[in-house]
Amino acid sequence: MGESITDPRGTWGSKLAFIFAASGSAIGLGSMWRFPLMVGKNGGAVFVFTYIISVFFIGFTIMLAELTLGRRTQKNPVGVFQTIKPGSSWKYAGYVALVTCVCILSYYGVIAGWAFGYFYKTIGGMFRGNITWDISDTIFKNFASNPLEIVFCIFIIMAITTFVISKGVQGGIERWSKILMPVLFALILFLAIRAITLGGAQTGISYYLLPDLSKMDPNVFFFGVGQAFYSLSLGMGIMMTYGSYIGKRDNLVTSAGWVCFSTTLVAFLTGIIIFPALFATPGINPGEFEVSTGLMFQVFPIVISKIPGGYLFGILFFFLLLVAALTSTISLLEVPVAYFIDEKRWPRKKAALLVGIVTFALAIPSGLSVGGVKFLTNWKFLISMDLVFGNIMLAVGGLIVCVFLVYLWRTQNALQEISLGSRGFKLKSLWVFNIKFLAPVVIIIILFFKIFNAIS
Ligand code: PFF
Repeated sequence: MGESITDPRGTWGSKLAFIFAASGSAIGLGSMWRFPLMVGKNGGAVFVFTYIISVFFIGFTIMLAELTLGRRTQKNPVGVFQTIKPGSSWKYAGYVALVTCVCILSYYGVIAGWAFGYFYKTIGGMFRGNITWDISDTIFKNFASNPLEIVFCIFIIMAITTFVISKGVQGGIERWSKILMPVLFALILFLAIRAITLGGAQTGISYYLLPDLSKMDPNVFFFGVGQAFYSLSLGMGIMMTYGSYIGKRDNLVTSAGWVCFSTTLVAFLTGIIIFPALFATPGINPGEFEVSTGLMFQVFPIVISKIPGGYLFGILFFFLLLVAALTSTISLLEVPVAYFIDEKRWPRKKAALLVGIVTFALAIPSGLSVGGVKFLTNWKFLISMDLVFGNIMLAVGGLIVCVFLVYLWRTQNALQEISLGSRGFKLKSLWVFNIKFLAPVVIIIILFFKIFNAIS
């Protein structure tokens, strides 16, 4: 079904289209920029395993819950809560999701802006020749602290995102995800193979894959679960909104499974590119390197400079990184826009423009905080936004989904909705156990830990 003026919401053209679009939302800077950063900051391989386990037990559980709530109600997050519990205060949980989306998009747009900047710098030949760590580090720092260039890059990102969203579900989101996601996959696989065959890659692979249990601490757990939420676009209504465009006969279980699998694979392979390349770079000491927000942007140019035909690969890589980022920024913007369309009856274009402008304005302090403006740098604005919205608020959102589904909507209703497109749901009992007990208990523990840590 296409979109018409009387149906501004739209639907996916097919189940596969949904999987591409949802993977497009999930696969993005979370897997390619944030995951290696988190691995570097949280003990290497122990984090990798904590993340994978979190995706399987908690991420998949909540993804299926969100898709089910979305498809049943065919609404944005506010509409989901309002439809199932009309007239209750639960709708405020939906508003929290909208605010979280806008706040995440505001700093996410900055990193996407970096990807855009690196794209045109690669075209301009900046990463030709022998790129050492020092050169790469200097290029990144000069770029990230140049206020005019950064604001320009954020503007381009927000303008493209707003444009695609104003075009709607099939014409915008679906069309591009279907073409570009498979190419991204192939390229990452190729670069991963190249990275493991670099001389000296062994240390990086051990760091990445051999867990050192002495590094395991509550923070690894907190950020591991947080990264699962982040990379799978959970806890903020994206998957509810995307679920609302899924046909009744599509299989929600396998769709959720594919999205979880493809996202984890991309994150895993990105780590396989970054760490061997990092440790194979002369001058880097595994125990000592300082993990900065720009880790991925500092290491990729080094990999690219070591590949025959690296110039073209570099252009292709940063182009696809940009696309991966855009399919995610699009999903972040779609949530508040769907709210204005559903609840306020606004035309899609007007909603997209308004939210796009507000988010752009909010993105500026984050953009200037990586060296551009001293007072924001000291305040570490971007990092704080990531901690509060990218970790804490997503976990809170996930907890709300569990409680709402289990105690207000009831698990049997969810199972009935799931069964419409998937007869034999093999992991049914495990999913019920996870949504009722495991996921909420784990989330409550990590949130308590974080709050306790922050105040003590
Ligand atoms: N999942 C996407 C990514 O990891 O890049 C987009 C995203 C969604 C980021 C939700 C952050 C987030 F909270």
